[in-house]
Amino acid sequence: MVLDNYFDSRKAIVERKLKSYLTPSKQYPQPLYEAIRYSVFSGGKRLRPILLFAAFEMMRERRNANILKPILPAACAIEMVHTASLIHDDLPSIDNSYLRRGNLSTHVKFGEATAILAGDALITKAFEVLTDIKDREKAVTCVNVLARAISTRGVLGGQTVDVTVTGVRARINVLKYIHMKKTGSLLQAAMDLACVLYGAEENVTLALQAYANNVGLAYQIIDDILDEIGDGDILGKEPGEDARNNKATYSAVLGLDRARKTAEKLLDDSYKLIKAMPSNEILVEYINLIRERIPL
Ligand code: IPE
Ligand code: IPE
Ligand code: MG
Ligand code: MG
Ligand code: MG
Repeated sequence: MVLDNYFDSRKAIVERKLKSYLTPSKQYPQPLYEAIRYSVFSGGKRLRPILLFAAFEMMRERRNANILKPILPAACAIEMVHTASLIHDDLPSIDNSYLRRGNLSTHVKFGEATAILAGDALITKAFEVLTDIKDREKAVTCVNVLARAISTRGVLGGQTVDVTVTGVRARINVLKYIHMKKTGSLLQAAMDLACVLYGAEENVTLALQAYANNVGLAYQIIDDILDEIGDGDILGKEPGEDARNNKATYSAVLGLDRARKTAEKLLDDSYKLIKAMPSNEILVEYINLIRERIPL
């Protein structure tokens, strides 16, 4: 199918560019470079860069790999930050996860200190990479967008509440905050970066932000469901971790059925936000791919 080819080809593009940005593991200090490359090239789905590409190509009304060149730094930067967030999320003091992307998590393989430093290195590298954006004004705006997405008002805020609020008694609004921040922030940043780099109108930016927020919340609810009843071999991470860590999750608080329905409704809403946009096929397919993750 043409659309399948889209996802594979865009993934290959981001993979190639990430390889060119990340220094070969043999450089000194070797454990740090090794940990960085191990974490980045371990089979991530590259959902955030692909979302950025899809939104940009939709706005350009052209599906063509050649037009992606100016946005490759932003695509790589967001995947670096995402990978860093996973390395830190897996640490013993946060989720204490043994597996990631089907491999040993970074701290299990390289030790905790190197894992912390590899995450830090990837976040700083992301901002260095953003300075490759040729249009200086857009580059500065992209730095601002990514910094805000990671910040106390973004991923870090969400992760903080995630580790402090536990159990099934969490209020749904708190849970929504956690999910929107820890997961929604980077999906929204993918859209914001696409809009800045394209020069989108405000109404388009607002609609795409809302799309990403709905998809992000749905994605994390589905991740919670998969943690409860998913297959570890497919997930590439150990199921049952949220219960072990007494996490506040949608499925724990609402039950599996209502959690599923909430995710479905969010995905329906995200479709409504883009259904009238021209050339929206990939963003529609993106929703379908996420819907297919919902286990029966
Ligand atoms: C994992 O994100 C963390 C969550 C937001 C649930 P992904 O499912 O995008 O992980 P990778 O990058 O494909 O491994
Ligand atoms: C998402 O939450 C983590 C980040 C946003 C970094 P989880 O803790 O549920 O993600 P997984 O299940 O470890 O991938
Ligand atoms: Mg976590
Ligand atoms: Mg985790
Ligand atoms: Mg999870």
